This record gives sequence, C-alpha cells and structure tokens, in this order.
Amino acid sequence: MFRSAQHDKARSVQSPRVVNIEDLRRAAKRRLPRIVFDYIDGGAEDEWTLRENSLAFEAVTFRPRCAVANPLCDLRTTVLGTSVSTPLILAPVGSCRLMYPRGEEVAARAAGAAGIIYTLSTLSGCRLEDVAAASKGPVWYQLYLVGGRDCALAAIERARNAGVSALVVTIDTAVAGMRERDVRNGAKELLSGKFGAKLPFVNQFLTKPRWLAAFLADGGLMKFENVVIPGKGPMLYADVTAALEQSVVTWNDLIWIRKAWTGPVVIKGIHTADDARRAVDAGASGLVVSNHGGRQLDDVAATLRVLPEIVAAVGDRIEVLLDGGIRRGSDIAKALCLGARGVMAGRAYAYGLGAAGNAGVARAIEILRADLVRTLKLLGCPSVAELDRSFVDIPHDWLRN
Ligand SMILES: Cc1cc2nc3c(=O)[nH]c(=O)nc-3n(C[C@H](O)[C@H](O)[C@H](O)COP(=O)(O)O)c2cc1C
Repeated sequence: MFRSAQHDKARSVQSPRVVNIEDLRRAAKRRLPRIVFDYIDGGAEDEWTLRENSLAFEAVTFRPRCAVANPLCDLRTTVLGTSVSTPLILAPVGSCRLMYPRGEEVAARAAGAAGIIYTLSTLSGCRLEDVAAASKGPVWYQLYLVGGRDCALAAIERARNAGVSALVVTIDTAVAGMRERDVRNGAKELLSGKFGAKLPFVNQFLTKPRWLAAFLADGGLMKFENVVIPGKGPMLYADVTAALEQSVVTWNDLIWIRKAWTGPVVIKGIHTADDARRAVDAGASGLVVSNHGGRQLDDVAATLRVLPEIVAAVGDRIEVLLDGGIRRGSDIAKALCLGARGVMAGRAYAYGLGAAGNAGVARAIEILRADLVRTLKLLGCPSVAELDRSFVDIPHDWLRN
C-alpha cells in the first residue's frame, strides 16, 4: 500500500506530466493550500527582485562551439573541498514541514541520493540530527541568531556532533521582508490564538484535503526544533517574526561564531563587492551572492547581475556561490561561466517537495542535472570545470571592473 502510494507519487512527477521546474511549480500549486504555496512562490513587496533574478539569466546569451563531440560531460566538482556530483546545492528553505511531512528529512535524503549538498535552515521543523542522518551526502547548517547567542551556540554544538560539514550564516535578514501574499492569506490571523480571526482563512486548507490529512498526521503546526529556548523548549511558530527582529547578525558576531565553529563558514546574502571583501576579512571560506530569492529587500539587483563584480573583487580568495532564479540547468551553466563555483537552488526543489515529497525533490534535481549535461554538450564544453566567460555574452554595463 505504502509502496504503491510512493510509486504513484513518483509517476505523477515523471515526463510528460513534469518536464521542467515550472511544471513542478504548477503541481505544487495544485496540492498545497494557497498560503503554503504563496509562502514558497512569493517575494517581498512588488516582487521586482524576484522577477529580475530570473530575467537576468535571459540577458546572458551563449556562444557555443559547434561540431564538437563530448559524449561524457563531467558535472563533478568540489565545493569547500568536498567532492559533489553536480555544482548544485539545495538552499536553506525554512518551514519545509508545512510543505510535506518531515519535509527537511525528505529533501536531505533526495540530495544525498543525488550526491549533492543539502543546507538545513535554522527555521526548520525537523531536528538537525535526524536531517543529517537522513542524507548519505554532506549537510550544511544555516544559522540565524533567533533565540539569542546561547541558543545559537547550542545549535552549533549539535551541528558539530551531527557531522554537519559547513555553517552558513545568512546576513540579509535584519527583519523579515514584507511578503504581501502572506499578509493577504492571513498568516498573522492563522497564527493568532483567536478562533474568530482565523475563520475567514480556513477554507484554503479545507479545499486541499490530501495535504491537510498529511499535515495533521505529521503532528500539525511544526515547532522550530533547532531553536531550543533554555527553560522553554523548541521555539513556537508564532514567535518567529519577533524573534528574527531581535536577532540581527552583525560582522562582530562573526568573531564568536568563527570561534565556536572551527569548520568552514559560508556567508549568505552578499549583494556587493564591499560586503564580499568583508566576508573574506571575517575568515569565511565561501560566500553566496544572494538576495534571499527576492524575499527580503525588494529593488536590489539580480544576483547574476552583481556576480561579475563580486568575482572580480574576491574570486581568487574565496569560493563564490550564487542563488536566485535557478530554474534550468542552463542557468547553472551561466552562473559558472561568470565565475561561480556552484549554485544554490531554493524554490526549484521546494516546488518538488510541495508537489510530491521525495519524488518531487529528486525530480527537480534530475531535471536540473539533465539540463546541465545537455547544455554542456550543446556548448561543446566537456566539463563544468571548463565553463568560462568565453561561452557567454553579457550586457556591457554589467562589467564595472
Ligand atoms: C520558502 C523559502 C524559505 C526560505 N527560507 C530561508 C531560510 O530559512 N534561511 C535562508 O537563509 N534562506 C531562506 N530562503 C532563501 C533561499 O535560501 C535562497 O536564497 C532562495 O530561495 C534562492 O532563490 P530561488 O528560490 O529563486 O532559488 C528561503 C527561500 C524560500 C523560497
């Protein structure tokens, strides 16, 4: 019975039903209540940066070398010294347990099976020990300082004991961005204890009975299992917005974080060459050019747009990763051509998770990998290591240096 349900899920995301990430997005929209789908899909304010992240990939065009045979294209690379099958990392995505039962474990398992890195968000519903055990590949832990310094130190200790291989410190979340879809869908009212306030918004759950049954079977509204408040236990879901506001990470915090975590640190949320230099000075091993997928400050430039400036400033001293708008393997190729070591993808796999759990995440990874192999072959390039600026044309005004 269980096996056949799994089989049905896997079939539901195979070709020709699901050919690309946009198809997974539509499948997630069908299965999830509006508030959960919009939480994944939406961005801050006018969602300008969200759109720009994707549009920037369209502004970069390829310069293929034709009549070249590359029967085997090599996608392998290393990220912070770890060998991976593909230069693709699953980005930290909070609250995955709203999307699918035990969502973070499910996503980590799919990443491990594909030989890629999974990054667990601080704001997750599964215990970091369980997530690390679920993946047979490398797992990174993304740190927010919600709950305060002692809470973060305890999580760092747990991450070390669980075998986490790098700490990702996200620096673009001084407050939660203004995600207007969440407001309209009643996020605040649904988290309030008041029955009357919730009532106008409950219909979105009743119209998705399969999601609702799975959500209730998974224990209902998750708690933040890795933010353990001394004397109180795991942080409640309703407390997260206020907690984020009281927990801004500053460059000074990097000093004690570096002491507590002796492994590699990756700083996520770099928008400018100046901050990239600060990340190098703070002793980071890697950085992620990221605007949080357009979910924080709207009207910042697309990440691909600022990548060349950042690579020119620090590319010889630190590993540069990029996220934002990765929906196709050709997007990965373009980021690599512009100097990224690898990319992170958030929504691409979150749609898969929301659509069909493990099968959906696995399908998202498979789509991006197959796209990347095909792109390399069509470019006449034998490996990801050989992608460089000569394979693309970029708009002239992107080059500041
Ligand atoms: C639903 C959702 C939740 C997210 N939660 C976190 C988080 O907890 N911590 C974090 O550093 N980034 C978080 N992000 C941002 C992602 O790590 C990543 O920067 C972004 O998704 C990249 O853009 P993309 O979705 O277009 O790939 C989240 C993104 C999404 C879509």
